[in-house]
Amino acid sequence: MKFMKRTHTCGELRETNIGESVVLNGWVAIRRDLGGVIFIELRDRFGLTQVVFEPSYNLDSHEHGKKLRSEFVISIEGKVRKRPEGTENPALPTGNIDVMVDHLVILNHADTPPFAIEDNIDAHEDLRLKFRYLDLRRPEMQKSLLLRHKMYLLTRKYFDQNGFIEIETPILMKSTPEGARDFLVPSRLHKGKFYALPQSPQTYKQILMVAGMDRYFQIVKCFRDEDLRADRQYEFTQIDVEMSFVDVEDIFEIVEGLMKIFYKEVLGMELETPIKRLAFDDAMEKYGSDKPDLRFGLEMVNLNSVFEKSEFRVFREALDGKGIVTALVAKGCGDYTRNQLDVLTDFVKKLGAGGLIWMRVKENDVEAPIAKFLTEEEKKNLVSTLNAEPGDLLLLLSGNKLKTLNIMGHLRLEMAKRMNLIQPDAKHALLWVTDFPLFEWDDDTKRYYAMHHPFTSPRVEDIPLMDTDPAQVKARAYDLVLNGNEIAGGSIRIHDSALQTKMFSVLGISDEEAQEKFGFLTGAFKYGAPPHGGIAFGFDRLAMLFAGRHSIRDVIAFPKTSSGISLMDESPSSVDENQLKELHIRVR
Ligand code: AMO
Repeated sequence: MKFMKRTHTCGELRETNIGESVVLNGWVAIRRDLGGVIFIELRDRFGLTQVVFEPSYNLDSHEHGKKLRSEFVISIEGKVRKRPEGTENPALPTGNIDVMVDHLVILNHADTPPFAIEDNIDAHEDLRLKFRYLDLRRPEMQKSLLLRHKMYLLTRKYFDQNGFIEIETPILMKSTPEGARDFLVPSRLHKGKFYALPQSPQTYKQILMVAGMDRYFQIVKCFRDEDLRADRQYEFTQIDVEMSFVDVEDIFEIVEGLMKIFYKEVLGMELETPIKRLAFDDAMEKYGSDKPDLRFGLEMVNLNSVFEKSEFRVFREALDGKGIVTALVAKGCGDYTRNQLDVLTDFVKKLGAGGLIWMRVKENDVEAPIAKFLTEEEKKNLVSTLNAEPGDLLLLLSGNKLKTLNIMGHLRLEMAKRMNLIQPDAKHALLWVTDFPLFEWDDDTKRYYAMHHPFTSPRVEDIPLMDTDPAQVKARAYDLVLNGNEIAGGSIRIHDSALQTKMFSVLGISDEEAQEKFGFLTGAFKYGAPPHGGIAFGFDRLAMLFAGRHSIRDVIAFPKTSSGISLMDESPSSVDENQLKELHIRVR
């Protein structure tokens, strides 16, 4: 079989090529037989070109063309002509021309694909993942991968221009605590010992600062064994960054520069900087989330002062327990039916709320099951504090502060959906969330955990609180949030081994354990660690948002399903008994 090498791609020919003899290679996308003339839309990554097999033009090739079916791989030689008047296809860049075929070589046959190779199909995602090579032939998937590619290039160029160097760090490493479960790799030579796949290159990049690299970045795979969701995969990609001799503002400046470039080159938009900032406490109080979606308002309001003297048991208990009463005003939703309100009540109960308090705002009054427990003054204050108007629906929750705010944050998102508050053309909402607490208390294990990671520096003025009231210590940590998605997170690090030791002790990590787990890092700090800090972007999430998709699986060539399976190659899979033996592993 003679393979004819292409002279052009399937997206390339224009009217200026009319009359030229060309060779195209590609897949049969669409085949139509009209009155004895066969029209094929030939596809490759670059586009579609119509090729024509006409008996009066070339009888042999027409005869041969009859054998063509969907997804056959072919090579054709022919002449570019202007399409006959009225048959142009303005939707295609090549739509003014077609190619009259003189010669056809069928390079490969294809079984009928299990779904159509085109955009906007409704095939189940599992089927698409099983036949990912066919799925990736679809233009919208190719577009996403091209966008990713463009983002890699922009990233590398930007960091290079700003004096950063890309350094690879190991994939087989010692376990680092980033809060998730590790993927472990058993050692064959060292019986009973394991490598961990990096949850991130956190410790390495800090050591690179000790090594004097000054400005590091890496586009790097990270691995975390956690529950998968639309925005989480076991293996995902970070743009990982670390800088020496910096404070928070320097990191922000570098990140904002990159975001400006992404906005310009990917979205064609001008990003105004500096990017808006919101402290964690405010984010929680107004939006009930540390990654608030600011594409719409619907702010939550703290009602503690309105109900400070309340005798309504539910509010009283919340306020006496240092909790909160918080509310949302759903404008114009005062006509929600009991049924709709029951659905909302179930929604918050599933998230752990005791119940949902609702009120309909009327002229000079509020109508609610709990109205009888409120004084006239409380009702009046409530309406004026919330700026509510007749016809509005008020939704209130009370209880433990962070938990209640969090549930209200979910209700806020749910109401935004119900009230259609996010317009399809909404402006991208980008913000920094700052001043995170350094520690998170866990009631189950009765100990503090690092909210970011144990190498994050406390605010200098808060260091004394580490001994007296750790919950009040704020971190020099920040997240970048886009449309309600955490797209990056980082911090200024501890570079002093004494402070690092104190940190471990608040976390309940003994000296021995700290030495065993992190001795290599604290050891390095003894040899002149510069002040340093950094950040890591979730590259897949960024690409997903810029591509306008709703799942990172759509911007990853070979993702896992939500149950962690690769349907195409069927991993995870069993392995030979011999392989296990070599690794000193017995499966029970
Ligand atoms: P963090 O754990 O916040 O920080 O991760 C950085 C960013 O990575 C993305 N991300 C994920 N994306 C897809 N799937 C996942 N399972 C997943 N987990 C995280 C998020 C997140 O903001 N070493 C620190 C960074 C630093 O301090 O410099 C770190 O990894 O977008």
